[in-house]
Amino acid sequence: MKVLVVGNGGREHAIIWKLKQSVFIEEIYCAPGNGGIAAMAECVDIDVTDTKKLVRFALDHVIDLTIIGPELPLTLGIVDEFHKKQLNVFGPGKKAAALEGSKRFAKEFMKKYNIPTAKYQSFTKAKDAIHFIHSLDPPFVVKADGLAAGKGVMICQTRMEGIEAVERIMKKKEFGKSGKEVVIEEFLTGDEASILVITDGEDYLVLPPSQDHKAIFEGDEGPNTGGMGAYAPAPLITKKLLKTICGEIIEPSVRGIKQEKFLFRGVLYAGLMITKDGPKVLEYNCRFGDPETQAVLPLIKNDMAELMLMTAEGNLKNLKLDVYKKSAVCVVIASGGYPGDYEKDKEIFGLEKASKDTVVFHAGTKLKKGQVLTSGGRVLSVTCMDDDLEAAVKKVYRSVKNITFEGAYYRKDIAHRALKKKK
Ligand code: AMP
Ligand code: GLY
Repeated sequence: MKVLVVGNGGREHAIIWKLKQSVFIEEIYCAPGNGGIAAMAECVDIDVTDTKKLVRFALDHVIDLTIIGPELPLTLGIVDEFHKKQLNVFGPGKKAAALEGSKRFAKEFMKKYNIPTAKYQSFTKAKDAIHFIHSLDPPFVVKADGLAAGKGVMICQTRMEGIEAVERIMKKKEFGKSGKEVVIEEFLTGDEASILVITDGEDYLVLPPSQDHKAIFEGDEGPNTGGMGAYAPAPLITKKLLKTICGEIIEPSVRGIKQEKFLFRGVLYAGLMITKDGPKVLEYNCRFGDPETQAVLPLIKNDMAELMLMTAEGNLKNLKLDVYKKSAVCVVIASGGYPGDYEKDKEIFGLEKASKDTVVFHAGTKLKKGQVLTSGGRVLSVTCMDDDLEAAVKKVYRSVKNITFEGAYYRKDIAHRALKKKK
């Protein structure tokens, strides 16, 4: 098989690393890729949103399967364009991708299919949103409707904060068009978990449940980031709870996708809050999570190329998921200052010192004259797998300590919730 992977993050590096282990793979291309991916795949300089060029590339190079990593091209409808040319592609079509691209749309879908989620109202006018806020008891949550790289969600402790959030989103337009509408919803408490399922719109396979660490500082303090680390399987999600999640959330979601006749051959990611009243959906994503993927994929025994091709062909029915009975942990090393301003072009040292059973997935890196340099906020995601979570955590930090660059920052408490519960 010749495969094209679209994206340039740690998630795409992990997908390619897993594909490389497949006996079916002849060649992997990545558009645009990064400094680490370049060692495993041929990087091609095409932007993830340049649908026309990507389709052309797939046709010219007789690509058997294209895998779309990030949400932006999915919400722009890249999958539909590949389908028009009879090209196999892993990812949902534009209509289904709106489950991630519009929070109002996702909420309406959940309401229609009776999927537990926070109570909400949506607004197209700031005046109406503010009027509604005056009737609320804080805390509550104000969300920009569209994509905002995880930054469009504001937890408000007072009505004043709520009004400010609406003004930032709708009047100052801090998130551009993504702020044309807002969703205001009930504040939920509990532990969060990420449930990723691979689906072809008919059948689905549940990947090991994981937990992300969104805040920049230890103890989940400070502003949110794209994700500072992840581990899987998350012990919080017991077998019994997973059964409830499948019955109340995943089954009806897939049934809804089918009923709406959405084209969906990819990953449905449910971001959940496990509340005392049961699991509720915080958000849907329509792709692999980053950094969850870096912790989840190493646990999968299946041939990834086969699994993804069968999904893209709508043939999941006869596949079973096979999972290692191990734990995996991923620690993200970021540039100093991230998620605020940070410097780039720092040389990275010690990559060769990572132990043999550590995988260093690259995110914000580039190659320049044989040197690996930083080129983004989240730079590397270092992953280890071991028999249990404690061993995997110890092992990963041993490798992380050896990797350095000026200003490098990482959280030292990845998996703290699960480890604390064990004690
Ligand atoms: P989202 O992008 O919708 O997943 O939101 C990002 C983060 O904001 C989530 O991971 C939660 O930590 C938090 N969040 C979102 N919605 C709620 C809610 N209704 N109640 C409490 N926290 C929330
Ligand atoms: N880890 C959060 C996300 O991928 O959106």
